[in-house]
Amino acid sequence: MVPWGRQPCRRYSVRVNPATESALEPRALRATLGAFATGVTVVTCRSQDGQAVGLTVNSFNALSLDPPLVLWSLRLASPSLGAFDAADHFAINVLAEGQVELSRRFASAMAGKFDEGSWHDGLHGLPLLSGCAATFECERVSRQDAGDHRLYIGRVLRHLWQPVPPLLFHRGHYHLLGEVL
Ligand SMILES: Cc1cc2nc3c(=O)[nH]c(=O)nc-3n(C[C@H](O)[C@H](O)[C@H](O)COP(=O)(O)O)c2cc1C
Repeated sequence: MVPWGRQPCRRYSVRVNPATESALEPRALRATLGAFATGVTVVTCRSQDGQAVGLTVNSFNALSLDPPLVLWSLRLASPSLGAFDAADHFAINVLAEGQVELSRRFASAMAGKFDEGSWHDGLHGLPLLSGCAATFECERVSRQDAGDHRLYIGRVLRHLWQPVPPLLFHRGHYHLLGEVL
């Protein structure tokens, strides 16, 4: 096996990344993790003084059906950490393909993130985005530090989906949903 070798593979080339110390360096690991295509969400909560707080997240995942649990993780250095720790509830807004600008907005440090998009209040005042592919309103049941992130687990209190195509993220780029196989 040739380390970091490239071989033709239809549209993509193969990049072999051996489990050496340099391959486990964050940039290389991030590149390999990027091969796992995900949806894109904006996770929101209300701060203790009632402000809407939110950020773009693709670490969201299903965890359990019974009880209904979902998870996501937040980097420990995030300025939003205090608000999510203080809040008993959070909402997952799964973005539709037409909401890519909102994803960029909520992945930035800009002020007034909620000035764009159509927002309304859900359970416990949770900020919910209209027109997205799905929403999950959750009660936080667990919180645990794992490396440089904090893992939040929530029990789903209410959920909703709409027949609109979701926004996808793969290898650092946004994508549209492809063909059904
Ligand atoms: C597609 C995408 C997915 C992201 N997923 C996460 C994530 O799961 N957890 C996280 O902490 N940051 C994630 N980020 C980065 C945050 O959105 C970004 O750091 C944002 O500024 C965080 O808001 P904050 O400044 O309030 O922490 C992601 C960014 C993008 C573009």
